[in-house]
Amino acid sequence: MDGLAVTACERCPDLVDSRSQIVNGVGPADAELVFLGEAPGKNEDEEGEPFVGRSGSILDDALRDAGLARADVRITNCVRCRPPENRDPTTAELGNCRGYLTQELAAIDPELVVTLGKVPSEHLLERSVAVTKEAGDVVDVRLGGEPFRALVSVHPAATLYDGSQRETFFETIVRAAEIAGLGESDGGQSSLGEF
Ligand code: URA
Repeated sequence: MDGLAVTACERCPDLVDSRSQIVNGVGPADAELVFLGEAPGKNEDEEGEPFVGRSGSILDDALRDAGLARADVRITNCVRCRPPENRDPTTAELGNCRGYLTQELAAIDPELVVTLGKVPSEHLLERSVAVTKEAGDVVDVRLGGEPFRALVSVHPAATLYDGSQRETFFETIVRAAEIAGLGESDGGQSSLGEF
């Protein structure tokens, strides 16, 4: 591992069997904003990139709404290999992959880490999290001794099952962009040109 990418790992026997490849984070190595998901699904496992399926297109929409492009942010997961039948990663699997996340976040040193859903929120905050209730909360966390700021978010897939979560999700991403000092700005362009 060069701090960001894991090229070989056999710590989790079930995941070694179920994965077709290790899915590392994508995005700038100096990103101010990091999105943390749970684990790769089928599409991610096939393409070798996090959040490229349906959840990924919702995340892309929310990023666009907040004035960001996917290339502006880093997107990674708590666990880098697809669990069988898309089950949640076990505590042992989360523990086995934790050091990789620690190294990745230490290397990137972002302004903010957005935890997408219950598993990443609880993994980073190290307590149980009522994600719907706590969505939008900023929490100081430590990983590998390093301090980070986390923003709790519902998982983008939650918006598929519950329309009311869509607004929560989109608002959280706008807030994330603001906290990280990114997003909508006039980009230095004068609006006088419109007149
Ligand atoms: N859901 C996740 O939590 N991570 C992905 O990479 C894709 C979907």
